[in-house]
Amino acid sequence: MIKLPAIVTFANQKGGVGKTTLCVLFAHYLVSKGLRVHVVDCDPQRSILRRRSADVERYGDGNIPFDVSRGKTSTKGELAELLKAIFSDSTHDVTLLDTPGNVITGLSQYLISNAHMLVVPFHYDKTTLSSTSTFIICLDHLKRSMGARMKSRLYLVPNLHDSRVGTRKELQLWDEARETYSRYGTVTPKVPRVADMERFSTVMNFDQQAKYVTPAFDKLYLDIFDTLDPYRKTESQEAEQKTPDTPTLVEVAHELAKMAPMNDAVSIDTETEKETTEKTTTDENNE
Ligand SMILES: Nc1ncnc2c1ncn2[C@@H]1O[C@H](COP(=O)(O)OP(=O)(O)O)[C@@H](O)[C@H]1O
Ligand SMILES: [Mg+2]
Repeated sequence: MIKLPAIVTFANQKGGVGKTTLCVLFAHYLVSKGLRVHVVDCDPQRSILRRRSADVERYGDGNIPFDVSRGKTSTKGELAELLKAIFSDSTHDVTLLDTPGNVITGLSQYLISNAHMLVVPFHYDKTTLSSTSTFIICLDHLKRSMGARMKSRLYLVPNLHDSRVGTRKELQLWDEARETYSRYGTVTPKVPRVADMERFSTVMNFDQQAKYVTPAFDKLYLDIFDTLDPYRKTESQEAEQKTPDTPTLVEVAHELAKMAPMNDAVSIDTETEKETTEKTTTDENNE
């Protein structure tokens, strides 16, 4: 169990592996578990912020699931301010950081060392495996040099998986990579390459995307909360639960019938009714 507020950083020096996509989808996943989520876009390309503006124009701002803000990290001062703001933020339970590729070098490494969880999406192909491996080695160096100050746990997410491609030799290489990576961190279940994933939204959580990422995200969530139960019920889950709790008239009648024979029930009702009538009459007479 990780103490809240938690910081989860999405990083990999390789671009195009799904950092931004998985960051947004994980935000939706956490919201569906009742968490208050803040996404900080630290990539100078501002893909999430731009997507949020487009989404608000399209869907309106009436039902925003999580906050998105800009994370400035180009100077020491900016970085310190950002981290201070995140650590002292009591209005969110989890902060997700989406980072650019060069995160391991320069100041941005603090976005990694200060995170509780480091999520590294990768892809089973030669170039991605090669740069992801270099990235993992750099992380390992960072961890050794920082010692206990670096608390982040490493999670590797095989993304863009297509079970139809790959020669026998490649498949073997991928299995080996999975095994090697497991020595450095937790390798989650795979996220398949599906066209539906390309049109993610920062406002709408589409089922056709959510179902593909759930196995991988369940693994991350379990490690934060030790359970898959929602952290707190969302408004719609609460509303759903209330409905079956309120018995229908037919259910009440059935329950009453089970409790006492019909005649008794009638006589009780009659007595009560008689009493009420008598009382009303007496009250009227007294007036
Ligand atoms: N599982 C997936 N299936 C299909 N397309 C994906 C998947 N994950 C990411 N993509 C696409 O791959 C491209 C790169 O993803 P992105 O999240 O921008 O990567 P990064 O942030 O690492 O550069 C985007 O066009 C995105 O829509
Ligand atoms: Mg990105």
